[in-house]
Amino acid sequence: MNQPDVFAWDAPSLAEACRGRLRIGAAVNTWDLDEASPACAAIRRQFDILTLENESKPVNVQPEEGRFVFDKLDRFTDFGQKNGITLRGHTLVWHSQVPGWLFEGEDGAPASKEQLLSRMQAHIGTVVSRYRGKIATWDVLNEVLRDEGGLRESKWYKIAGRDYIPAAFQAAHEADPDARLLINDYNLESSEAKADTMAALVEELLRAGTPVGGIGLQMHLSLYTDLELLKKNVRKLAALRAFAPDLRLEVTELDVSCYRFDDTAEDLLWTDALETAFREKYAALFRFYGELADEGTLDTVVFWGLSDAVSWLNGFPRRHKNYPLLIGRGWRVKPAFYDVLALAGNKEAQS
Ligand code: G3I
Repeated sequence: MNQPDVFAWDAPSLAEACRGRLRIGAAVNTWDLDEASPACAAIRRQFDILTLENESKPVNVQPEEGRFVFDKLDRFTDFGQKNGITLRGHTLVWHSQVPGWLFEGEDGAPASKEQLLSRMQAHIGTVVSRYRGKIATWDVLNEVLRDEGGLRESKWYKIAGRDYIPAAFQAAHEADPDARLLINDYNLESSEAKADTMAALVEELLRAGTPVGGIGLQMHLSLYTDLELLKKNVRKLAALRAFAPDLRLEVTELDVSCYRFDDTAEDLLWTDALETAFREKYAALFRFYGELADEGTLDTVVFWGLSDAVSWLNGFPRRHKNYPLLIGRGWRVKPAFYDVLALAGNKEAQS
């Protein structure tokens, strides 16, 4: 089937096609929100939920203790409100892009547990309450697990043990009782050990009454991702709804790299074979997302970036040209976009 080769702002709207079933979003930067920019036109047409890719991380929001920088988040929330777009906050507690002062005590010694937890609570309380009612979902905790299972031995963990985990949720809940509060991580789909740790941790938190609203599945995938394993691991996490029927899964950072993680190949050219594999992967994924949406488990899918031109995967894990999103370079939607469009909003198309 021939699809029109059109700009994202002229193509049918994926968000509209999915409305009532899935919210469709992207990670953006505030410079994308300039009214006259192509990025803004693409956002308005294609997405109804947004995340800031970097500008709301702790190192940017509180670079020094007590000095909060809110201009980017204010711009983001103004844009969301004006355009009727739902917003996600990313992120409150992370081991990366976090300011060093958080972990420092007196005279070069590490911070004490009490000091760290009180700084964490102050950060979360100040940021979440400022955007109460404006930011619908927070990635409260980001990447607190190890790929091989167990908790990441970050500075958070080394200083505070596991107590920072429920304390972060409590602080966010006090600051905005209506926000959905997530624990967000990568490789949950590909590491059974990691999915098991996540399931056990969330179950423990829920049993203790911790206000966990959902699990963020980052889903940085590749053409080589094993979809059967992905489904099995996601199902394991979805089963936690037995403990908390309101618990939701969100796909928070979706992209599909055309390289294996350890691939040292130079820039790949986009061939018909890659195109076919890419279309099949996206179609299979959105078939599965549709199933999860229909059973009430998943309601949000966010792409990590607006187009291939600006994807972080052009620079990670090494510099090479990548093609991971449905909007290509030059803002044109890809054939896979039309496959997803047909599947995502339309139950019949899935059979
Ligand atoms: O802003 C500085 C700039 O001043 C400097 O000249 C330049 C030199 O390298 O760096 C710029 O900062 C970069 C920043 O992105 C903004 O572009 C950092 O080096 C770079 O490390 C940072 O990468 C971000 C990464 O998180 C940080 O760990 C990526 O853009 C962002 O896509 C990525 O997003 C993460 C999610 O938050 C969590 N899940 C994984 C995902 C992908 O890694």
